[in-house]
Amino acid sequence: MGQGKKLSLVVLISGSGSNLQAIIDAAGRGDLPVEIKAVISNKTDAYGLIRAEHAHIETQVLDHENYPDRESYYLALADLIESYQPGLIILAGFMRILTPDFVQRFAGRMLNIHPSLLPAYRGLHTHRRALEAGERVHGASVHFVTDELDGGPVVLQVQVPVENDDDEQRLAARVLTQEHVIYPTVIRWFAEGRLAVEGNRVLYDGQPLAKPIQLDFRETPPR
Ligand code: GAR
Repeated sequence: MGQGKKLSLVVLISGSGSNLQAIIDAAGRGDLPVEIKAVISNKTDAYGLIRAEHAHIETQVLDHENYPDRESYYLALADLIESYQPGLIILAGFMRILTPDFVQRFAGRMLNIHPSLLPAYRGLHTHRRALEAGERVHGASVHFVTDELDGGPVVLQVQVPVENDDDEQRLAARVLTQEHVIYPTVIRWFAEGRLAVEGNRVLYDGQPLAKPIQLDFRETPPR
């Protein structure tokens, strides 16, 4: 992005929208050169819609239950997203499985955050499964979206410790706090033109990443 030019985003949510809030806050502080054109939810009661309204961001609800099948839903969703001409699409707790055509349409310009150290624990209930497996380290990953569920190339991961007395909620909260750090960071890199995806590899400052950039929860992310 040239100086002063903002990257336009469309953010997809299904729930609380705390990651959306982290993006709104980072942009508000001047740390993130983005403009959120719209927040789209598949659920009418997603709290993230209220967060967006408070920030004077346009909101849309596209309820998957009003569509006969996944194909027609994702066709409508893709058209709605395109109407905002975003440079980047952000999945922020959007809890629906995407179709290959939808993913293809936004290839290389759609990011997701997932609450695990991918490729570990794709899918749901990541914190519970990490606890059950006796993991000592857990975390979150930001990745480009491909049509493999939670399987696209990872850009940045943050590791958090699992404490002896953790339950699912405590661990989830510790991970979520770090999600709020790593997601705006990766979006900023993309906005600054420092990130791209080539096949199944991430290019960071023009160099392919051999593995995701790893961060410990005590570290400040690299600029
Ligand atoms: C976050 O923990 C995010 O990583 C997860 O949903 C939560 C949304 O929280 N996403 C997934 O599990 C996607 N597979 P938020 O609505 O408060 O941002």
